[in-house]
Amino acid sequence: MSEENQDILDKYTKVCICKAISKSTMKKVIKDGADTLQKVQKATSAGSGSCGGRRCTPKILQLLEENKQEQ
Ligand code: FES
Repeated sequence: MSEENQDILDKYTKVCICKAISKSTMKKVIKDGADTLQKVQKATSAGSGSCGGRRCTPKILQLLEENKQEQ
């Protein structure tokens, strides 16, 4: 998949369903320096929805891991 298509897809993919936060937003804050789960949650308010982060936390951790591997 081209990077452009991936970007479009990321905008429509919700990582935090409770707070409707997209994968592209998550990637952006990670790129801007949020390198821990806590920092990502603080920057995006992910994890503060009704599920208490049960659904989005594993996905955020995975994005952080992928980001580390890219560096
Ligand atoms: S999915 Fe993120 S707080 Fe529920």
